[in-house]
Amino acid sequence: MKTLTVGLGERSYPIHIGSGLLDQAALLQPAVPRKRVAIVSNTTVAPLYLGRLRQTLQQIGVESQEIILPDGEAYKNSDTLNLIYDALLRSHCERSTPLIALGGGVIGDMTGYAAATYLRGVPFIQIPTTLLAQVDSSVGGKTGINHPLGKNMIGAFYQPILVLADTDTLKTLPDNELSAGLAEVIKYGLIRDLPFLDWLEQNMDKLLARDTAALQYAIARSCVNKAEVVAADERERGERALLNLGHTFGHAIESGMGYGNWLHGEGVAAGTIMAADLSRRLGWISEQDVQRVRSLFARAKLPIVAPDLGPDRYLELMGLDKKVEGGKIRFVLLRQIGHAVVNGEVPPEILLQTLQACCKEQVAETSDTRHG
Ligand code: NAD
Ligand code: GLY
Repeated sequence: MKTLTVGLGERSYPIHIGSGLLDQAALLQPAVPRKRVAIVSNTTVAPLYLGRLRQTLQQIGVESQEIILPDGEAYKNSDTLNLIYDALLRSHCERSTPLIALGGGVIGDMTGYAAATYLRGVPFIQIPTTLLAQVDSSVGGKTGINHPLGKNMIGAFYQPILVLADTDTLKTLPDNELSAGLAEVIKYGLIRDLPFLDWLEQNMDKLLARDTAALQYAIARSCVNKAEVVAADERERGERALLNLGHTFGHAIESGMGYGNWLHGEGVAAGTIMAADLSRRLGWISEQDVQRVRSLFARAKLPIVAPDLGPDRYLELMGLDKKVEGGKIRFVLLRQIGHAVVNGEVPPEILLQTLQACCKEQVAETSDTRHG
C-alpha cells in the first residue's frame, strides 16, 4: 500500500492506494470514531462492494445506514441529492455521522456536496471505485451537481478526511470507463509532468491490460500531482485551473450531447485535442506535438474527434464555464507539452478556426474513427 498526504494544514488527509484496502478496518477506524456511518452508493457499485465495506465496518463495531442511488451522470442533480438528504433526515443522522461515498466520481461529487451542506457539514470519506475517481475526483474537495444549463454548476469546496482507493475494484470496471479514467491520467503528464507522459507512452498497453503494478503506479503518480496542486491552490485562484485542461471544451461536449451520452473522460479526451489544436494555432506547439497528444488518447481508446455541435453551440455552452471572467472564456492551453497555462485572451477568429476544424473533421470522419 502507498499512502500520500494532501497537505492542507489541520485539514490535511491521507490517500491510501493499494490492493484489498476495502477489507482493512484499521485504515477506516481513525476516520469513524463513532459507531455509525452513512454510506452512499449506487445500484451498480453497491451489489459489488457494499457488503464488503459493511462487514469491514462491523469489525470495528460501526453500523451503516445505506443510501443507494440510481446510477449515471444523468442523475447527478438536485432531485437525486434530495434523496440523500431525505434518507439522512429520516434516519436522524447527526453532525458527527460520517458520510462515505462508495463509487465513481458521480457518487463522490454528490455525496461530498451532501456532506458539505447537511447540517452545515458532516465528516466525509471517499472510497473511489473507478479509475477516474481514484486519480482525480476523490482528491481535492470539489463537490457538486449538474444543472440543466451547465455541468457541475452547483457545488462547494469540501475536503474529505480520508481517501481509500482499493485498486482491486478496478477489476470490475467496464473497458470504456477504464479509458475514461486514463484521460485524466494523461492530463497530469500534459500539464505538469513530462516524465510521466513519457512513462504513459511506454506503458499504455500495460494499463489497458490492467497490469496491477502499472495501474498502482499511475494512480499514485496522478495523486501526487493532484495533491501538490490542491495544496498550493485549494480554491482555484490560480494553478488549480490547469487541472481543467480539455474541460472547457469537454464540459460543453458533455452537456451539449446530454449528460451521460459522452462519459466525462471521453469529453476531456476530445476536448484536450481541441485545446492542443488551439495551442498550435497560437504558435505555441507544433503539429507534431498535437499528433503526439492525439496518438496517446487514441492508444488509450478514447475519442479523438469531438462531436459536431456547431461553433455557435460550443460558444454558448463554453460561455457558462466556471472559469469565465469578465465575460471572457479562459482556456487551459499547452505552452509546450508538459506545461499548461491559462489564457483569457484567445483571439475569437482563432477559436473559431479550432471549432470549425473540429466540425469539419467530424463531417469527414466516419463513426469508426471516433475512437482512435
Ligand atoms: P461514474 O461515477 O458515473 O462511474 C462510471 C460508471 O462505472 C458508473 O456506471 C458506475 O456505477 C460504474 N462503476 C463505478 N465503480 C465501478 C466498479 N468498480 N466496477 C464496475 N462499475 C463501476 O463516472 P466517473 O468517471 O467515475 O466520474 C465522472 C464524474 O466525476 C463526472 O460527474 C465528473 O464531473 C466528475 N469529476 C469530478 C472531479 C472532481 O474534482 N470532483 C474531477 C473529475 C471528474
Ligand atoms: N478535477 C479538477 C480539479 O479538481 O480541480
